[in-house]
Amino acid sequence: MKTLFSGVQPSGIPTIGNYIGAYKQFVEMQHEYDSYFCIVDQHAITVPQDRLKLRENTKKLAAIYLASGLDPEKITLFIQSEVAAHAKAAWMLQCVGYIGELERMTQYKDKARRQNQKEGISVGLLTYPSLMAADILIYSADVVPVGEDQGQHLELTRTLAERFNAKYNDILTVPEVKHPETGGRIMSLNDPTKKMSKSDDNQKGYISLLDDPKAAAKKIRSAVTDSGSEIRYDKEEKPGISNLLDIYSSLTDRSVSDLELDYDGKSYGEFKTDLGEVVEAFLARFQDRVNHYLESGALDDILDRGAERAARKADRMVEKMERAMGLGRKR
Ligand code: TYM
Repeated sequence: MKTLFSGVQPSGIPTIGNYIGAYKQFVEMQHEYDSYFCIVDQHAITVPQDRLKLRENTKKLAAIYLASGLDPEKITLFIQSEVAAHAKAAWMLQCVGYIGELERMTQYKDKARRQNQKEGISVGLLTYPSLMAADILIYSADVVPVGEDQGQHLELTRTLAERFNAKYNDILTVPEVKHPETGGRIMSLNDPTKKMSKSDDNQKGYISLLDDPKAAAKKIRSAVTDSGSEIRYDKEEKPGISNLLDIYSSLTDRSVSDLELDYDGKSYGEFKTDLGEVVEAFLARFQDRVNHYLESGALDDILDRGAERAARKADRMVEKMERAMGLGRKR
C-alpha cells in the first residue's frame, strides 16, 4: 500500500478554505493509502504564538481532523513535536538545502513582510520548508494532498529528496503532490484576489470551521461580488462569484456547470442566500462532531497511539539518513 502524508498548522482555527483544499481530500483518500496526518505545531512557532492558545488550538485541530471524517482506527493522527524524528531530519535537510532556495519561497516572502512590521523575522520562518520536507520524507510518502499554496514547498521537497539521494544514498522517496479538482485555492470573502487565510486580520474575509453557523451565513451574504449580475465561473472577470461557486460546488459535491445552469437568470442575492444556508448547515453538522470528539476523552488515546506509530516508522528513516550522512558511530 502506498503512503500518504499531510499536515495542518495549529496557528489558528482552520477555515473552510483548509477544509476544501485539504481535509476533504484527506477523507476521500484515507482508505487507499497508509495515511499519516500531522498537527504541525513546530511550524506554528515560526511566528509568535500565545503558549496556552497554541495548546488549545492543537487539541481542537485534532478534533477537527476527526470531525472531517477521518477514521482513527485506520489512519495515524499525531502531533509533530511529539515525534522527535521530524526535527532531527529537518536539521539534516537544512544542511542539504541552499539559502537562496529558501529565500525564493513566496510564502516566506509574504510572511516575512508581514512579520517585519511587528518584530524580527525568525530563522525558523526561513528554514520552515526544510522541516516540511522532513515531515514528508521520513514517512517515505508517495503522495501529499495539499491546497495550491503549498505547491512551491512540495517542489522544494522533491528537489531536496533528489539532491540527498544523489549526494548520499538513494533512500528517499520523491513524493507527488495532489491538489483538489475544485477549490485548491479558496479566496478571501472580502478580497477575492487574496487567499482565504486563518491568520487574516480581517475576520470578514474567512469562515472558521468553528464560527457560529448563522454568523458564517451572514459573511457569505455580505461577500464581495463582481460587477454584472450573471452567475458564471470566470476567475479573471468574476473572481468573487467564481470563488463562491468553488465553495458551493465543493460543499455540495455538485459540479460548477450544474450550479451555473441552476442559477441561470437568478440574482446574486438569491445565490448568496442559498450558499449561506449550505454553509450554515455544513458548519452545524461539523461542529456537532467536533464537540463530540472534544468531550469524548478519546482524543488523547488517539494522539498517543498516533505518535507511537509515527515514531516507529519515522525513526527508521532518520537512522538511515544519519548513516548515509556519516553521523554517529558505526554499529
Ligand atoms: P496550512 O496550515 O496553512 O494549511 C493546511 C492545508 O490547507 C490548505 N489551504 C488551502 N486550500 C485551499 N484554499 C485555501 N485558501 C487554503 N489555505 C490553506 C493548504 O494548502 C494545506 O494543504 N506548510 C503547511 C503545513 C505542513 C504540511 C507539511 C503540509 C507542514 N508540513 C507536510 C503537507 C505536508 C501549511 O502551512 O498549511
